[in-house]
Amino acid sequence: MKIAIPKETIHFEKRVALIPNMVQELTKLGCAVLFENDAGAEAGFPDDVYKNVQFYSNVKNLYQDADVILKVQPPHEQDIGNYKKYSIIVGFLFPSWNPKALAALRDHHITSFAIENIPRISRAQTMDALSSQATVSGYKSVLMAANFSTRFFPMLTTAAGTIKPTHVLVIGAGVAGLQAISTAKRLGAIVSAYDIRAAAREQVESLGAKMINIDLQGEASGGYARELSGDEIKKQQMILSDALKKAEVVITTALIPGKPAPKIITQSMVELMLPGAIIIDIAAEAGGNCELTQADKTINHHGVIIHGPINLPSMIPQDASNMYSRNLVNFVKLFIKEGTLALNWDDDILAQSVLTHEGMIKHQLARELIEGKQSCHME
Ligand code: NAI
Repeated sequence: MKIAIPKETIHFEKRVALIPNMVQELTKLGCAVLFENDAGAEAGFPDDVYKNVQFYSNVKNLYQDADVILKVQPPHEQDIGNYKKYSIIVGFLFPSWNPKALAALRDHHITSFAIENIPRISRAQTMDALSSQATVSGYKSVLMAANFSTRFFPMLTTAAGTIKPTHVLVIGAGVAGLQAISTAKRLGAIVSAYDIRAAAREQVESLGAKMINIDLQGEASGGYARELSGDEIKKQQMILSDALKKAEVVITTALIPGKPAPKIITQSMVELMLPGAIIIDIAAEAGGNCELTQADKTINHHGVIIHGPINLPSMIPQDASNMYSRNLVNFVKLFIKEGTLALNWDDDILAQSVLTHEGMIKHQLARELIEGKQSCHME
């Protein structure tokens, strides 16, 4: 089996799907590794640190030789036309953002695995790229806030006087939020946090942050959050307004699977905040948790800075790639045994992450997106 790693083509993507240390994991599986020139360069891995790899200067030739393609960002539909029929692609695929690419994967008989659909079961923890990349986002969001801030994060006692610590509020205490809390604590800030899942309290408190109490049971199936009702949103906004008045930095991370990000901070809530306060809304790509957020933009509203970064993991590309490529290699080990393909569809991890196989869209929501709801009742 030949496993290929092309250079990511989207301009804001610096990560690479395979770091040098992971090459031997694939060769031990009996695979050859093909690599497009400079694919790792922006992540801090120039070609000369990759050993036992065959380099390609022409990506079309790489695709033609590849049995398996490992990627970070979803493929462009035009590239899919160059893939070898029946080859396999693994990466973030986000079919709802890329319906044309999904149709091209189906029509070219490519087997595609969406890494974001891997179930969050214990056995799949080492493949959980959503978590590994959210960890990077949470960390970077705090550094970004510190960069925007006009103040120190820690308390400083100096001959030039005492500086009070910065108050940070983290909204959404999932993987990214918990890492944001840890990072802000390490920088010496006073941190409080809020989430609608009751289970988050213990995790927040174990990191030394204060949990804001709003009596809402927002847990849905699978440990994720649910959408709140109108009354619940009002209650949430009332209590959060008080916390926002004191916060100098706010990191928002709240997401609900398959839905736009919940709007938690309204314009009028922003207007209550301290001048110079900063909101880093890492839910910006999903629409944002603040009404005023614009993805990839920085806004100044009445002296409050609202920044909506996109693709935070790509801003720490070396370690993000390190974690991501370990996730991918662990996933590949599920279906390549002794250098040959061993797709076992009884394995939940493969069955839940496959999008297309043998000319069909296997994932129900993705199929509805492309072929309409009826296609799901016809089987
Ligand atoms: P996520 O990225 O989907 O959402 C981020 C956070 O926003 C969540 O904690 C969610 O509860 C919160 N949120 C949603 N709506 C909100 C609102 N209106 N107000 C305040 N907060 C709101 O979450 P992530 O990080 O993907 O984690 C989701 C769940 O998956 C958690 O229960 C987590 O513990 C679990 N998980 C399990 C893993 C495993 O077992 N292998 C690995 C990673 C996460």
